Amino acid sequence: MKTVFINCSPKKRFCASAYFLFLQRLFTGGEKVNETLRTPADHARILEQLRDAQAVVFGVPLYVDGVPSHVLRFMEEMETFCRGNGLKFSVYCIANNGFIEGKQNEPLMQVFGHFCTRAGLVFGGGVGIGGGVMLNVTRILFIVDIVLLLLNTVLSAANTGSFFPKEAWISFAENAALLLYFNLGVLFYLAGMGRAIRRGAFFGKKYTRILIPSFVFILFADIFFIIISVLEGGIFRGWLARKEFGKS
Ligand SMILES: Cc1cc2nc3c(=O)[nH]c(=O)nc-3n(C[C@H](O)[C@H](O)[C@H](O)COP(=O)(O)O)c2cc1C
Repeated sequence: MKTVFINCSPKKRFCASAYFLFLQRLFTGGEKVNETLRTPADHARILEQLRDAQAVVFGVPLYVDGVPSHVLRFMEEMETFCRGNGLKFSVYCIANNGFIEGKQNEPLMQVFGHFCTRAGLVFGGGVGIGGGVMLNVTRILFIVDIVLLLLNTVLSAANTGSFFPKEAWISFAENAALLLYFNLGVLFYLAGMGRAIRRGAFFGKKYTRILIPSFVFILFADIFFIIISVLEGGIFRGWLARKEFGKS
């Protein structure tokens, strides 16, 4: 069984879609092919991979409550390609968005459902994930935790001769458990969708989010965006800058 995973984020590095597709691959058996869809130059290569595929998993960021335009362009071409070649595989979708409610991906899921009907494909459903940016950050935090644990182990070995610094291990386990908890909803549904992909079955549309209270999310999101705004063009990306009207 061949499953094609298509990362539809236009970002070259560190996109949330890549993280969720990585997790989905852990729960999916058989032959796995990874593709990235960023420009029209990717279309022909990906379409060739679809010829003998049994399942396709799209990893898509939510843009303005919908499907990013470069993905829509590909879907139009894919519709013609699949109809012309009589292809009939299952399509699944992992959509993620920046705001906390995963349910905001519902319109995007509907687009994928209608697309499958038009293209003669089988819509297998998908997972809509809220707080995608923050969940993506949890993987960096996990790597930082591992690095800190290694550093502590080296220092402990050098200073006391012990390769098992107890405090450092307890702190690592606590942090890892917390990060795992944030991701539990995602892991639960991606595991379920993995089973559906293996059986070629319908999974349905499921919505989840980073598992933290909304008021905590808003606080961290505000801090995050203020820092990003300052780093990338001043406070609030130029909202307070002098404007010159009448110029195109
Ligand atoms: C042009 C643009 C439009 C976006 N529109 C929305 C939106 O309508 N709702 C939302 O919750 N997040 C929105 N986002 C945030 C992205 O969905 C979010 O950053 C996502 O995690 C990006 O996934 P990626 O890292 O895989 O590209 C938007 C981001 C961009 C760049």
